[in-house]
Amino acid sequence: MNKDAMSLVRRALRHFKQSTTDQADSTMEISLSAYRDETRYGLEIERIFKHLPIAVALSIELPESGSYRAMTVMGVPLLLVRGEDLKVRAMLNVCRHRGAKLCEEGAGKSRLIVCPYHAWSYNYEGALVGRYGGDTFGEIASDSYGLTGLHCEEKAGIIWASLTPGDVFDVDHWLGDFGEELETLDLNNWHLYEQRDLAGPGWKVTMDGYLEAYHHQLVHRETVGKYTVGNLLVLDTYGPHQRLTFGRRTLGELIDQPQDEWQPMEHIRLIHSGFPNLSISGILGDHCLVSQVFPGETSETTITRQTVLVAKKPVTDAEIEATETFSALTLKAVRDEDYRVGNSIQSGLKSAANEYFIFGRNEPAVQNYHQAIEEFMAMESNQWERPKKDSGGR
Ligand code: FES
Ligand SMILES: [Fe+2]
Repeated sequence: MNKDAMSLVRRALRHFKQSTTDQADSTMEISLSAYRDETRYGLEIERIFKHLPIAVALSIELPESGSYRAMTVMGVPLLLVRGEDLKVRAMLNVCRHRGAKLCEEGAGKSRLIVCPYHAWSYNYEGALVGRYGGDTFGEIASDSYGLTGLHCEEKAGIIWASLTPGDVFDVDHWLGDFGEELETLDLNNWHLYEQRDLAGPGWKVTMDGYLEAYHHQLVHRETVGKYTVGNLLVLDTYGPHQRLTFGRRTLGELIDQPQDEWQPMEHIRLIHSGFPNLSISGILGDHCLVSQVFPGETSETTITRQTVLVAKKPVTDAEIEATETFSALTLKAVRDEDYRVGNSIQSGLKSAANEYFIFGRNEPAVQNYHQAIEEFMAMESNQWERPKKDSGGR
C-alpha cells in the first residue's frame, strides 16, 4: 500500500464533500503552435525524447540472462539485452558490418545476437565475438566493432535509456523523490499479461488526456467513469513527474466510517505520470495498466504501448475472466474513448477555430506538463534539478 494512502484519501474525501479539486493558481493559455508547428515538434523530440531518460520497457519484459527486446522508438532501432551479469544493456539494433537490422522487432531469448546478413555475431554485452569467413574477410580490430551502446539503467522495475549515443544520466537524479514513489508499485513482482500498441493522436493531445479527471464522466461514462468521481484530482508533483490521485465513487462511504476502519486504497486510484511519456495506472485492485506514449514521425500521431499487468498469473477461470475484463476495459477506455476524442481534437487543430487552448485551474497536472516542456526546451543541456516532492493540497 502506498505510504501516503491515508493522507491521500483524506484529501480526496475533503474535495468529495465540498465538490472541489486541487487547482492551479490561474488558468493557462497555450498557443496552438505548441501542437502543430512541425519545426518546433522536431526540436522538442530532439531535446526531450532523445536527450532525457525515457522509460523504454519494464524489467519483467527481460526476465533472464539472454532475454532481449527489439523495438523502434521514434526512429531509433533499439535493442535491449539482459546480460550474464543480469544487467540490462541498450544498444542500437544495427550491425557494425554494413548496417543490417540484427533482431526482428519483438522479444525473445538468444544465446548470441547473430546478424541475418553475413552472420557476424555479438554477445549480450554487444561485443563482436564471431565473424563468418573471418579469415577471408581480412584483419580488423574486433574491439572497435562492438554494437553502439546507449546509456541504460534499471530503477523501480523500469528500464530507462537515453536514445542518443554518448549521453549519460543518473536515474536517481532524474527521478528524485518520484523514484521512491515508483518503487511502491513493486513493478518487478507483477505478471505481464498482455501488451499491445495503439495508434493515437499527436503527442500533446494524447498526454493531456492522461493528466486530468475533468473529462471522466462524459468520455468514460461506460467504462472507468463508472468508478471515478469526475473533476476530482489530488495532485503531488516531483519536478516534471506527477502523481495524480482520483477518487472512486465509493469515497462517500467513508463519511460515516471510523478512520481506523478505512481501507484507503479501495477508495482512490493512483496514476503515476513519469515525464515525458509514462503513465502507470492501477485501476482495479490486482490489475495495473502501464502506458508508454511514443511520438510518431509527425506531430499528428503517436503509438501507445499498453501493458496489462496482473498481481499474479491468472490461473482459475475467475482470475482469467477478471483479467480479460480489465484488459478489455482499458482498451475500450483508451482506444475507443480517449483516442476517439483525441483524434477529433487532432483533426480540428489545423482549423482556424482556436489560436490557443486554455487549461482550467482544475487541470493543474496538464498545466505542469506543459510548463515542464517549456523548461526543458529552455535548458541547453541536461542540467535538471533532482525532483523533490511538492504536495499539492491546494
Ligand atoms: S551486415 Fe551484419 S554481418 Fe554483414
Ligand atoms: Fe480518459
